[in-house]
Amino acid sequence: MDTKVDEIARGVYRISTLHPGFGIQFNQFLIAGDEPFLMHTGMRRMLEATRSGVARVLDPASLRWIGFSHFEPDESGALNEWLALAPRAEPVCGFVGANVMLEDYASRPARIVGDGEVLDAGSHRLRWLSTPHVPHGWDAGLWFEESERVLLCSDLFFHPGDPEPLTTDDVVGRARDAIHEGAQGPLANDMPYTPHTDATLRRLADLEPRTLAVMHGSSFTGDCRRAIHELARVLLDALGPRAARG
Ligand SMILES: [Fe+2]
Ligand SMILES: [Fe+2]
Repeated sequence: MDTKVDEIARGVYRISTLHPGFGIQFNQFLIAGDEPFLMHTGMRRMLEATRSGVARVLDPASLRWIGFSHFEPDESGALNEWLALAPRAEPVCGFVGANVMLEDYASRPARIVGDGEVLDAGSHRLRWLSTPHVPHGWDAGLWFEESERVLLCSDLFFHPGDPEPLTTDDVVGRARDAIHEGAQGPLANDMPYTPHTDATLRRLADLEPRTLAVMHGSSFTGDCRRAIHELARVLLDALGPRAARG
């Protein structure tokens, strides 16, 4: 597997591996600095691809924090392998993730962050936003890197293929096509639309990110506030209560 590494914002590296079987990218985001933070561990079976990508930027053993949005193989599957590779690293997530998921699974305890709390990662400040079921999972949350204003947005804006690392193009259009296509296939219903979905997305837009770091597909830079509002509209139309009534 061919892994590409690109700096998409100052000190924020996108580590991207196309999975030939799935036809989608699995992207991790490495926030370099004196307390390096890795967003998503990648799957266990892709560990060597992810590890070699990280190693092109810094010594994998120097990782200090391992974050993810929700407990799922591509987000956190290789957590224990990373904890073995990086002796100083701590998992960091919300209360539900730590107590319901990692308590039994992780080989070291997690640092728990509350909703809106800032993790002081040395030269970077990362804010945790608890976002249950956005994109999915009871434990879901998203990280916002404050100095470069990068929203690490997990599966939001998902689009398939092997597109460019960073785009200013219409990333919402790509996500909309993927949502409609996904609704016809066996992996439909990946994102529940709850009474809190719209407000959660509006809260993300109000952060006014400069860059959206997308886990599957191109990252986006430009008017991210507008892009999130447009995505909220797409999700309402495709998955909201009216769509459900059909
Ligand atoms: Fe996911
Ligand atoms: Fe994912």
